[in-house]
Amino acid sequence: MLGIHAAAQACAVALGVLFVFVPGVLGWTNKPFNPPAIPLAVSSPYTSAWLMNGNGTALNSDWPKFWNDKITAWASMVIVDSITYQTMGPIRGGDLACDQLSMQFTATSSIFTLRCGLVDFTYTFISPIDPDDLVRFSLPFSYLIITAQSNDGRQHSVKVYTDITGEWLTSDLAESITWQTSATEIITHRVQFVDQRPFQETNNRILDGAVYFSTMNRKGITFRAGAVDDVRTAFQQQGALTTPSETGPRAINDRWPTFAFAVDLGSVGPQGLAQPVVFGIGHARESVVQYAVAGGIQDRVPYFMTKHATAQDALEFFMGDWQNATRTASLVDAQVDAHASKVSANYSAILSLAMRQAIAPMELTAARKSDGSVDASDVLLFFRQNSAGYNGWMNGVDMIYAMWPLFTYINPQLSKAVLEPVLRYIASNVSPYPYCLQSIGQSYPNATGLTGAVTEPHPMPVEASADMLIMTFSYSQRTGDLSLINTYYELLNQWATYLGQNTLIPTKQEQAETWATPSAKMTNLAVKGIIALAAMSEMAKLANRSDDMTQYSTTTKSYIAQWKTMALSNNGQHLTYSYDNNQSWILGFNLYMDKLLKTNIVEPDVFVTQESWLKSRVNAYGIQADSTAIWTVSNWEMWTAAYVQDAALQHAIIDSIVAFHQSGRSAAPMPTFFDSETAKPDRFRARTDVGGHFAFLALQGDQLTIQRGFQLPSESDGSNSAASASSFVARTLVVWFGLCWLSLLY
Ligand SMILES: *[C@@H]1O[C@H](CO)[C@@H](O)[C@H](O)[C@H]1NC(C)=O
Ligand SMILES: *[C@@H]1O[C@H](CO)[C@@H](O)[C@H](O)[C@H]1NC(C)=O
Ligand SMILES: *[C@@H]1O[C@H](CO)[C@@H](O)[C@H](O)[C@H]1NC(C)=O
Ligand SMILES: *[C@@H]1O[C@H](CO)[C@@H](O)[C@H](O)[C@H]1NC(C)=O
Ligand SMILES: *[C@@H]1O[C@H](CO)[C@@H](O)[C@H](O)[C@H]1NC(C)=O
Ligand SMILES: *[C@@H]1O[C@H](CO)[C@@H](O)[C@H](O)[C@H]1NC(C)=O
Repeated sequence: MLGIHAAAQACAVALGVLFVFVPGVLGWTNKPFNPPAIPLAVSSPYTSAWLMNGNGTALNSDWPKFWNDKITAWASMVIVDSITYQTMGPIRGGDLACDQLSMQFTATSSIFTLRCGLVDFTYTFISPIDPDDLVRFSLPFSYLIITAQSNDGRQHSVKVYTDITGEWLTSDLAESITWQTSATEIITHRVQFVDQRPFQETNNRILDGAVYFSTMNRKGITFRAGAVDDVRTAFQQQGALTTPSETGPRAINDRWPTFAFAVDLGSVGPQGLAQPVVFGIGHARESVVQYAVAGGIQDRVPYFMTKHATAQDALEFFMGDWQNATRTASLVDAQVDAHASKVSANYSAILSLAMRQAIAPMELTAARKSDGSVDASDVLLFFRQNSAGYNGWMNGVDMIYAMWPLFTYINPQLSKAVLEPVLRYIASNVSPYPYCLQSIGQSYPNATGLTGAVTEPHPMPVEASADMLIMTFSYSQRTGDLSLINTYYELLNQWATYLGQNTLIPTKQEQAETWATPSAKMTNLAVKGIIALAAMSEMAKLANRSDDMTQYSTTTKSYIAQWKTMALSNNGQHLTYSYDNNQSWILGFNLYMDKLLKTNIVEPDVFVTQESWLKSRVNAYGIQADSTAIWTVSNWEMWTAAYVQDAALQHAIIDSIVAFHQSGRSAAPMPTFFDSETAKPDRFRARTDVGGHFAFLALQGDQLTIQRGFQLPSESDGSNSAASASSFVARTLVVWFGLCWLSLLY
C-alpha cells in the first residue's frame, strides 16, 4: 500500500484541478473521472435519479433517469438579465444551453459548474450518508444546492427555476396522480398516486407513498403546479410563477402536470449569493416493509418515524438540517478519501463512485408496537437487490456478503441490523431445510419468504450458510457484542453441521458467482465453507461451547489440508474452478475472508501461488472472474486485490476497474459485471454489491466515524457567516484542503 507520497500526489492533482481549468475532449473537466452514470438524488430504493453519462453527458443535455433508464424528469432554467438559459434537462423551446465547465463527484455529492453567459452557477447534488445517526441515515431525501456568481466582475439580475413531473412516481404514464402544495417556512409539492397500493411494485417502482419536492420560503419565491408548457413558459416569459396552481387528479402524461419553483435572486455579483438556493427531493412512505415473523406479518416503518411523526415532518427536518448535513457530507467525503488514498487515488475514486449507490437501496426500519407507537429498539435494515437475475430480492445473503466490507467500515449497528432480518426470519418460521435460505423474500418490499419454484431445491445452500456464519462472526469479532451468537446459536450450529457434511465436496449448486455455470466440487465455494467452519469454531469459543469449538476446529484443520490437495491444479500453478478440472482457474476471492477474520487457515503458499498466477492475467479491463468466461466482476476483483500482497498487481486491478468506468462503454449506474477485454457491460447495475469495493478499508481496519465536534479549517477563522453562499463555496474548497491535510496525517 502506498503511503504519504501517493496521498500528497493525490492532493496535488486534486487541488490542481480545482484551480486550473483544463478542458478535455468533452469541453468540461471531470474529477476524478468521467463515470458511466452520475448519482443526482440517490437515497432510497425509490429515490433514484441519475445522469446516465456514458461518454459524457452535460447536465442540460439529457433527462435524469431512474436506475432502470426510465425518465425522472427534473428540469432547471435560469434567467440572467433577460436571457433564459437551460441548466438541467433538454427543455423544449428556444432557450440557450449553458456551457458545462466541470463535473466532480465525491462519496456524497455530484457537483456541476455551468457558465450561463455572464453568470456561473454551481449545482451541488448531495445524497447525505450519516451512518452514525440512524434517524438521518434513514431519510430518503437528497439536496440540490444552487449557488451563482458573476464572471465579469459586474452585477446581473438572476432568477432560478426548477421542476419535476409525475415521472418521479412511475414510468407508467397513464397512472392518475394527485398533488398538493403546502407553504409555511418550507414550501413542499407533494405528489402521489390516486390509487395507493401499499407494498406493490411495477417496473421496480413502488405504487405507494409520495414524492416530495421542497424549498425554503424566501424573498422572491413563487411556485406552481400545472401543465408543463404553461408552467415553463410562464417562467420564461415572466420570470415568476404567479398564476395559481391547477388541481388534479389526472394522468402523468395528460398535459404533464409539473411541480415547479422559481426564485428571483435579485442582483448577483462576483461575491455570489448571500444564501444558496436549497431544494430537497425524495420519495417517502410511512410503511415500508412487510416482515413475516413469529406472531404474524409486521408492517415496518422507516426508522425516521422514531423521531418524526410523518414523512412530511421528516422532510421539514431535512430541509432545516441542510447546513449540518452538508458539513457531515464534507466530513464523510474527506474521510473516505483519506482512508482510500492510503491505497491510491484511483481507489479513492472508485469508492467515491460506489458509496451512494451501495447505500441507496437500503431502508432502515423500526417495528410498530401493538398500540401503534414506534419501537425504536427494534432496528432492522432491508435492502433491495437491483437488476440482473435476482431483481427485487430482499437481503439476499450472497449480496450482504458481497458488500460486507462496506458494513465493516460503517457503524456496526447497521451490520447487525442487516443480518438480523435473516436470522430472525428463519428462526421464527421453522425452516424445513438444514441450511440457510438465500433470501427472505423475492419481491421487495415483502420479506414474507420465498415462494414458488425457488423454494425447492434451494439454490445456494453452502453459499448462504457459509456467508451467514462468516458475517455473524465478523460482526461479533469487531464489536465484542455476542448477542447474535447467543440468540441464534442453535441455528448457526445447525448450518455449521450442514457445512461439515457438505462443504468439502460440494454438489452442483449455485453460488455467489451467479454468472458462472454451476458445477460440482467448486474450489472457491468449498474454501468459503471451510473458513465458515473456522468462524463457527471461534463463535463456539465465544459462547463457551468448548466441545463444539474443538469439533469444528478439528474438522477445519482436516478439511483445509484435503482442500489444498484437491484445489490446486496438477501443475501446482493455480487454484482450479472445480477440483477435477486441471486447466480451470479462479480469482479465489473467498480467500479474502481468511484474512479479514484472521482465521489464517489457508497456507501462505496458496496465496503466493494465486498471486503469481493472477499477475499475468490482467486484461485491459480486469482479470476474468474465472476461466469459464471472459466476464469479470469488479467487487470480487477488489476482494482479490486486497488479499494479494503484490502492490503492482493491486494497482493493476484497481486501475483496470477505473479503465472500465471511464471507457464510456456503459451509461448505467456503476455496473459490476463486464467483459474484461472489451469493457462491454452486462447485466449488473445500481446494485449494492459495489460496497465490496471497500475491501481494502475493511482489511486496513479503517472506520467511518462522523466526528461532529471536529472543526473543519473553514470554521476556525472566527467569521460567522455560515449561511453565505461564498462561504458555502469557500467551505467546499477548504474541505479539499482539510482532506489533503487529513490524508497527510496517515
Ligand atoms: C461511447 O462511444 C463509443 C465510440 O463511439 C461507442 O462505441 C459507445 O457505444 C459509446 N457509449 C455509449 C454508452 O453510448
Ligand atoms: C406484497 O404483498 C402484498 C400482499 O400483502 C401484495 O399485494 C403485493 O403485490 C406484494 N408485493 C410484491 C412486490 O409482490
Ligand atoms: C447542527 O450543528 C450545530 C453545530 O454543530 C449543533 O449545535 C446543532 O445542534 C446541530 N443541529 C441539529 C439539528 O443537529
Ligand atoms: C463464558 O465464560 C466466561 C468466563 O467464565 C464468562 O465471562 C462469559 O460470560 C461466558 N460467556 C457466555 C456467553 O456464557
Ligand atoms: C488433474 O491432474 C491430476 C494429477 O495429475 C490427475 O490425477 C487428474 O486425473 C487430472 N484431472 C483431469 C480431469 O484430468
Ligand atoms: C488510474 O487508472 C487509469 C485507468 O487505468 C490510468 O490511466 C491512470 O494512470 C491511473 N492513475 C494513476 C495515478 O495510477
